[in-house]
Amino acid sequence: MCGIVGAVAPRDVTPILVEGLRRLEYRGYDSAGVALITADGVLDRRRAQGKVQQLADNIAAQPISGHRGISHTRWATHGVPSERNAHPHFSEGQVALVHNGIIENHDELRAELRGKGYLFSSETDTEVVAHLINDTLKLNGGDLLASVQTAVKRLHGAYAIVVVSPLDPDRIVAARAGCPVVVGHGDGENYVASDVQALLPVTRRFQFLEEGDVAEIRESGIRIFDAKGAVAERPLRESSLSAESVERGDYAHYMLKEIFEQPRAIADTLAERITGKRVLEAALGPKAELLLPRVKSVHIVACGTSYHAGLIARYYIEQGAKLPCTVEVASEYRYRDPVVPPNTLFVAISQSGETADTLAALREARKLGYLATCAICNVPESSLVREADLTLMTRAGPEIGVASTKAFTTQLAALSLLGLVLARHNGMDASTEALFVRQIAHVPELVERTLKLEPQIKQWAQQFADKRHALFLGRGPTYPVALEGALKLKEISYIHAEAYPAGELKHGPLALVDADMPVVAVAPNNALLEKLKSNLQEVRARGGKLFVFADPDTGFQAEDGVEVLLMPEHIEAIQSPLIYTIPLQLLAYHVAVLRGTDVDQPRNLAKSVTVE
Ligand code: G6P
Repeated sequence: MCGIVGAVAPRDVTPILVEGLRRLEYRGYDSAGVALITADGVLDRRRAQGKVQQLADNIAAQPISGHRGISHTRWATHGVPSERNAHPHFSEGQVALVHNGIIENHDELRAELRGKGYLFSSETDTEVVAHLINDTLKLNGGDLLASVQTAVKRLHGAYAIVVVSPLDPDRIVAARAGCPVVVGHGDGENYVASDVQALLPVTRRFQFLEEGDVAEIRESGIRIFDAKGAVAERPLRESSLSAESVERGDYAHYMLKEIFEQPRAIADTLAERITGKRVLEAALGPKAELLLPRVKSVHIVACGTSYHAGLIARYYIEQGAKLPCTVEVASEYRYRDPVVPPNTLFVAISQSGETADTLAALREARKLGYLATCAICNVPESSLVREADLTLMTRAGPEIGVASTKAFTTQLAALSLLGLVLARHNGMDASTEALFVRQIAHVPELVERTLKLEPQIKQWAQQFADKRHALFLGRGPTYPVALEGALKLKEISYIHAEAYPAGELKHGPLALVDADMPVVAVAPNNALLEKLKSNLQEVRARGGKLFVFADPDTGFQAEDGVEVLLMPEHIEAIQSPLIYTIPLQLLAYHVAVLRGTDVDQPRNLAKSVTVE
């Protein structure tokens, strides 16, 4: 959610700032801007509503340059997407500031600063911080570092800010509270960003700021201070990501690339964590062997697609380990008073590890007497990973498409491993575990084969492209798969899509079914197949058109009003949710392409939601 880049160099930093924004654009993309200290020693900026390309066009038409600069791509919270509300925000030409997150006490601060004569030109909470820092600068003779350290003490909320001032032109200053900030070390030049991906073309050497840290970035080096103002040593890390790992290659969209990366991503997530027969418990970290045998129930919390992964994991945990398991969206969990039975494991699932609600839920859980907290996450440096007791990293690689695909299936792979470890501690014998491990190990190949169904799914997509609504049905573990299929379709094609457990059909949604409502059914050959078939008859009887994804031995036949696509042969339980997710991703993708929407950056959404 929003992206920040900053650089200090003995050369023009504009190209670094703009390229960095391109790499972060998937996080927020309703407006963008850069601000620099020019050769004349004054602040200048270019801003644009819309995509980073719009900003690049503005810069090409009206060039700007400088050796110290900051930039931002925005996902609007306070104030509509517009050039006026785009960052960087200025205060009297003395301070330029970019900001991620939300300043909760902005009204109160705005009133105070207005009283002092500051003029506001935007509707954002951000502009308040620019004025506040300027106000402090006036009192301390232009020391930008000290001003930021003083000003942030007045801020309530979650934020990452980066500031530049011509009054203190040799450095830029960054601060972190609740939103990630990384500083990058170059040769004779240094950088700051909200995410390493922005800086991969210029460096691989990073330090991650911790909560409350403030950093100054100069050409000659970077210094980090903790919340108390003491110099802080943060480990220097070498990123293994390559600049190309976030490039699209020959694919038309990141989403398609990421769908096709799933066999490798799942294989990577399983690698070194399973032998031919068992799951290696140490994969969950050094404390796993101590804590997991004591688990007696599991609470899973997540948002969006990650929440759907949690709903599927409940089947792995309840059926496999016979442990009670609840799953809840993080924004609800964090505001109720959950009752925590003894020896409960808290599991937070998040691709980014920075989703505000999930992180807040984890922090809440840490106070509630859980046995341990566990993060299932795709970003090793994320706050979630740093703060959880146990971690199980998915190894999907950077996911750029806003609609999550490979992050989801790798979460399922990781959660199946967690389920098996818990099952082993609760009576699953070695031969059963070996059977399941073989099934999991086979998933990458099955996904590879499922991807070959793309041409047929592309044809089906044509029958959805002009529709306004779609219904997805599943039962048991494939009900959450249906939920995920509906979410994908609505996110990127803007067709209103809903998922229902097929048994609920007659309790409401059947009223909506007619010839204009395509109904997608996920039909593996499980104990609920016959019941699902009856539910589908109810749809047919009302003239609804059915699109059935089914196992080869389910007996589904294509006929008038019923399209059937047979999945590769596979085994129920662990494999089905993973395999059935693939065609639903492809369906959403091709419908969106036919409708001409912005597949990778759907309107109003953002990749990583770091605000409540
Ligand atoms: C946003 C994204 C979704 C994602 C959700 C949770 O809504 O658009 O794709 O599933 O956040 O994100 P997380 O990083 O916590 O998995």
